[in-house]
Amino acid sequence: MRLALMASGTGSNVEVLLSEKQSGKLPLVDWVLLGCDRLDAPVIQKARSKVLKTWVHSPSEFAEKTHYEKSLHQVLTEQEVDGIVLAGYMRLIGPALLEHWQGRIINLHPSLLPSFPGQHSIQDALKYRVKLTGCTVHFVDEGIDTGPIIAQESVPIFSTDTKETLTKRIHQAEYSLLPKTVRRWSEGGFYLKDKIVHFVDEVGETI
Ligand code: GRF
Repeated sequence: MRLALMASGTGSNVEVLLSEKQSGKLPLVDWVLLGCDRLDAPVIQKARSKVLKTWVHSPSEFAEKTHYEKSLHQVLTEQEVDGIVLAGYMRLIGPALLEHWQGRIINLHPSLLPSFPGQHSIQDALKYRVKLTGCTVHFVDEGIDTGPIIAQESVPIFSTDTKETLTKRIHQAEYSLLPKTVRRWSEGGFYLKDKIVHFVDEVGETI
């Protein structure tokens, strides 16, 4: 499976995914592209030598977001990408990309969706004093973190937690959930049909 990574910042999840490939744990995955929307994002250096191609462009370079997405779509097509993994990509996927890629884009989010969508999910979980939060991998649709859920892992919240301690604990859960889910995807272990995630067992039967 030829996969593209999209990220905007630090890229610790990208680093984990790339090293899982290097250590043989994602045998069916080829990381062919890193797409990044921030020219100064640390993730670029982390990935540059480990993916076939990097595509780094800010939407502000384009007259409209649609042009930015069309340009990205072109490179994804040129690289014969099968699917896209959003690992810390801080932008809503617009219609110009969704039109071609719906059902082939998955996103990692740091909460147990549908609770706490958006960019402040970790602070929101602390603010609401929930006892359990976590991380979610879901297919991307037109909403903000609203797409069909593929996999989740829960993380406890302790009364002593700060944003930093909780972020760290969620990251640890993400480092195991995302590679596991990508591996299963590459093995044909699930797919999206009629807005529902269908899982497939070892003998190819939908379960
Ligand atoms: C992760 O917590 C992910 O859930 C969210 O953005 C964060 C990216 O972190 N979408 P990193 O750049 O992988 O360190």
